[in-house]
Amino acid sequence: MCGIIGYVGSKDAVPIIVNGLRKLEYRGYDSAGIAAFGKSGFFDVVKQKGRLAALEARLTDYPVEGFMGIGHTRWATHGEPSDVNSHPHLGNQGKIAVVHNGIIENYKQLKERLERKNVYFSSQTDSEVIAQLAEYYYNGDLMETVIKVANRLEGSYALGIMCVDAPDILIAIKKDNPLIIGISEHGQFIASDVPAVLEHTNKVYYLNDKEIAVLKKDSVQFFNIDKEMIKKPLETVTWSPDSAEKCGYPHFMLKEIMEQPKVLRDTINSAIGNGKNKNVMNKLDCSKFNKIVITACGSAYNSGVVAKYVFERLCRFPSIEVELASEFRYKDAVIDERTLVVLISQSGETADTIAAMRESKSKGAVTLSIVNVVGSTVSKESDFCLFTAAGPEIAVATTKAFSAQLALLYLLAIQFAVKLGKLTQESEQELLKEITALPGKADKILEQIDDIQKYASTCVGYKSIFFIGRNIDYATALEGSLKLKEISYIHSEAYAGGELKHGTISLIEEDTLVVAISNCERLYGKIMNNVEQVISRGAKVLLISGSAEKTPDERISMIRLPAVFELFAPSLSVIALQLFSYYVAANKGLDIDKPRNLAKSVTVE
Ligand code: AGP
Repeated sequence: MCGIIGYVGSKDAVPIIVNGLRKLEYRGYDSAGIAAFGKSGFFDVVKQKGRLAALEARLTDYPVEGFMGIGHTRWATHGEPSDVNSHPHLGNQGKIAVVHNGIIENYKQLKERLERKNVYFSSQTDSEVIAQLAEYYYNGDLMETVIKVANRLEGSYALGIMCVDAPDILIAIKKDNPLIIGISEHGQFIASDVPAVLEHTNKVYYLNDKEIAVLKKDSVQFFNIDKEMIKKPLETVTWSPDSAEKCGYPHFMLKEIMEQPKVLRDTINSAIGNGKNKNVMNKLDCSKFNKIVITACGSAYNSGVVAKYVFERLCRFPSIEVELASEFRYKDAVIDERTLVVLISQSGETADTIAAMRESKSKGAVTLSIVNVVGSTVSKESDFCLFTAAGPEIAVATTKAFSAQLALLYLLAIQFAVKLGKLTQESEQELLKEITALPGKADKILEQIDDIQKYASTCVGYKSIFFIGRNIDYATALEGSLKLKEISYIHSEAYAGGELKHGTISLIEEDTLVVAISNCERLYGKIMNNVEQVISRGAKVLLISGSAEKTPDERISMIRLPAVFELFAPSLSVIALQLFSYYVAANKGLDIDKPRNLAKSVTVE
């Protein structure tokens, strides 16, 4: 939540920062701001409530320039979205400017103390206290000041800090929120995420907690919190600059949906043969575990629900739990060194997932993460990490990362089953054949895009859309429902088909849409019973099914999926559901990539 970027170099910082903010807007879009160190010897600050476009418009009226600057795109936590609450924040004397991503938990105490010393606060944010505290402590040594401030802050932060007395120095520090340092031929960057700097460089340093980066036009130095210089490895990012562009698509979400066959192929290849993920899986001593807990948030949690069905069926493992990370972290879980905790996260920066990981490690459990973003906190702190090969995912609603997570979870389950002696070599080969066929089958669904678009255009008027499925199709229903509600703002819920009669059916009436998912051949009749029950109460039905020989009657609309092994069917159903949601939202004319109130990476509780 919130994106920060900073630049010091030989080019005009302002367009570079604005472009970087465009790539970070997925992290929050309530307001945006920029501070540049200009010729005046002071900071030129422009802040604007609303989308980045509003800031850009403001910048044409009030142009600023400079060779150093910091920028911010905000997802409001403390204080409403407004110009004054936007970042950067300056201290009272205008000496120090700060951009902040995170939450300062003790800001009230710090603020009260500073106010008693006649420091005047102009915003309602927690972040302003950082700039005011920095000015209060400032003694001519900016790094020392930053260290003093960091030692007083409780909570999470990624900070970019500039001081008028040091016109060529940009300082960065972080705790529990991501920050990367990019190195280019014309200057150095700080940024919340790699896509913000990709058009300039693919060489980055990943900052660890309480490490300080001191950036100058042509150098970067790193220090620990005791002011001792440290060395860090320079890493090369494999993502191409194009991967963070829309490339002609109207929305990132559509581009990312369409990329799924390739993402599936790359991710599957990484986990078979000599792929990197396969080597990590090989290192796991599966026989040591008597319990598996899968924990994550949102869609990543839904992929965990799918995985529970797959693990249970293939591994016949007695104890597999799926927990929302936000619940798991506070429940004093019964886990120990014989528990494998699987953490799933696209960003690797979700606050609840990080907390769940740390809680698990403190209890001695082994942690295995499935993460998309290299260098992220979860990927670095977990004992084992499998990387999804999804590339940068920009749309707030996840699509390709979810599909990549599923692929890795299937392959992990197979690996477990083989190691536990639950699968013959022959069955393993059959399953692998099914998995490697998934990208081709995903292509077949994408070919139906026009039909899905046409059908979705008839669905914008529904007040409620229910998703039902049985067994593993229920897990897919959860994801279909989440996808629809987050981007279309239509009320939606997912139910296990068998649960309908236990209460939900009272909500079914004329003009309710029920999306029924059916890929469990043996349960087809059961889900069709549910379909009949809702039709007789006035609902319309969309059936998403790979049960090829069955053609429902004209009362039921259908998206037909290629035939697929039941346990891997979620990978296909979900693509149809993503397209359906996308086109419902597109027909409503909504801002699909940046749905209201959401941010891609939920780095606060
Ligand atoms: C999915 O479309 C959502 N945007 C959201 O539920 C997301 O999956 C969740 O916040 C978890 O994020 P993570 O994968 O980065 O941990």
